[in-house]
Amino acid sequence: MFCISYHKMCLFTGVSLDTLVVIQSPDVSVMEGETVNITCCWTEMFERVWVHWRKNGITIRRQVLHNKAQESLKKDTNNCSSLTFPNITRNDSRRYICRVFVGIPLPVERNGTGTLVTVNDLESSDYDSDDHSADSR
Ligand SMILES: *[C@@H]1O[C@H](CO)[C@@H](O)[C@H](O)[C@H]1NC(C)=O
Ligand SMILES: *[C@@H]1O[C@H](CO)[C@@H](O)[C@H](O)[C@H]1NC(C)=O
Ligand SMILES: *[C@@H]1O[C@H](CO)[C@@H](O)[C@H](O)[C@H]1NC(C)=O
Ligand SMILES: *[C@@H]1O[C@H](CO)[C@@H](O)[C@H](O)[C@H]1NC(C)=O
Ligand SMILES: *[C@@H]1O[C@H](CO)[C@@H](O)[C@H](O)[C@H]1NC(C)=O
Repeated sequence: MFCISYHKMCLFTGVSLDTLVVIQSPDVSVMEGETVNITCCWTEMFERVWVHWRKNGITIRRQVLHNKAQESLKKDTNNCSSLTFPNITRNDSRRYICRVFVGIPLPVERNGTGTLVTVNDLESSDYDSDDHSADSR
């Protein structure tokens, strides 16, 4: 990645839109009440990226990420977004799709394939795993 400065303007060059891929974290299966953090990363760095997290066809989180030209020279690039559930409930069980929009150098959008979050109910998993408590009744 190179950055070329013209006066106060800086252009990101060497960005390949053809190879822009959105990678989401793998599917997770958790228990109710756990803290869950799923991520979405993309393979190129852009000056500005809009990230939409979608659930059930509805955008539930919008984020705008900026990369300053000077930062493009460093390693720690800002090409991930995360969605955190501090206390997950069964209602959060769903596939979450990350949609990434880039404006510069060209308007492009990419969808991730999604992360499926499965939230297991504490009570029903007790019945499945604990035969002894059923016997003692
Ligand atoms: C979620 O995970 C990402 C990537 O591992 C990390 O950068 C972020 O800080 C995490 N967020 C929380 C709230 O734990
Ligand atoms: C983030 O962008 C940098 C710079 O283009 C790239 O080297 C890195 O692989 C990207 N990270 C991911 C997870 O794609
Ligand atoms: C998590 O959510 C459940 C159900 O809404 C609630 O009963 C519980 O107190 C919450 N726990 C925390 C640590 O917020
Ligand atoms: C889950 O959704 C149902 C139906 O929309 C609602 O009645 C219930 O209160 C929700 N439970 C939690 C823990 O958010
Ligand atoms: C991304 O997903 C949205 C919503 O489902 C859809 O409208 C859009 O066409 C998709 N974009 C691409 C590039 O597949």
